[in-house]
Amino acid sequence: MIFPEYRARRLRQNETFRALVRETSISPAHLVYPLFVMPGKGVREEVPSMPGVFRISIDQLAKEAKECMGLGVNSVILFGLPDKKDSKGSGAHAKDGIIQRAIKELKNTAPGLTVCTDVCLCEYTSHGHCGIMINDVVDNDTTLEVLARTALSHAQAGADMVAPSDMMDGRVAEIRGILDENNFHMIPIMSYAVKYASAFYGPFRDAAECAPQHGDRKSYQMDPANVREALREATMDVEEGADILMVKPAMAYLDVISRLRDEFDLPIAAYHVSGEYAMIKAAAANGWIDGEKVMHESLLGIRRAGADIIITYFAKDMARLLNG
Ligand code: PBG
Repeated sequence: MIFPEYRARRLRQNETFRALVRETSISPAHLVYPLFVMPGKGVREEVPSMPGVFRISIDQLAKEAKECMGLGVNSVILFGLPDKKDSKGSGAHAKDGIIQRAIKELKNTAPGLTVCTDVCLCEYTSHGHCGIMINDVVDNDTTLEVLARTALSHAQAGADMVAPSDMMDGRVAEIRGILDENNFHMIPIMSYAVKYASAFYGPFRDAAECAPQHGDRKSYQMDPANVREALREATMDVEEGADILMVKPAMAYLDVISRLRDEFDLPIAAYHVSGEYAMIKAAAANGWIDGEKVMHESLLGIRRAGADIIITYFAKDMARLLNG
């Protein structure tokens, strides 16, 4: 079909036609909202590089959960700022750790909310790396056991899903193993299967105080130049028992999301990360872009690329727009 027999504009002439033929949709059900939990009482502290995102204390969680659920955002992912850090990241699996207490609080006050947890050590280690250091190197196999204990402690506190983000090899199998041994075979693993060593995490590292004190994360997170390697990472996690595969960041990696969508039949999640949020907010605050429209278009693009689930700091704003 070619012009003038075919006119692409026929089905664009009004919103009803456009809505009838729209290929991609977003609903609040697809969105996961990240929460930063910190010690103290009555704390609600805006992250300077992430306007509209707050670090909150445990007593503020019920209110936050109610707000999310009222908007139809029924899943959150938790990040914790512990009281103390040490070289082994012990706070990550402490029975009364910040995340473990936060999970309990949410389960008590908002039982309908699905609580996912980020399983990683960087927020809990004094050196800020995502694993245990031996001779200045993040030691893969020593870290596995600590990650598994962390995931188990989250499940024991009542988490609904665990999301390992450390990028150690073999962590999914290790976590699946310990969960199954302890009768948590119904807890899914959303694996950060394809996580790049990205500069887009900058604002998050301010929010979670987890920037590496020396060096960078390139020896464990992926090289942004690679996509075939992403398929190998994802294959590994599928074989180890992942339930959901995540790509992170999102917008600079839409091709990776799309490749994973084509090659795997598991649900795909995309993490629209802190830097992506901060850039949109900053440009909008300057009046350079329409922040709401750019938010919508960005999330739509991530869905169109093939993501089922989007983890985004815009979850509440987007839900408000959709519910509008
Ligand atoms: C922990 C973790 C990070 C993010 C999620 N989990 C930081 C990092 O790897 O440096 C980044 C999320 C964001 O930027 O929004 N490892």
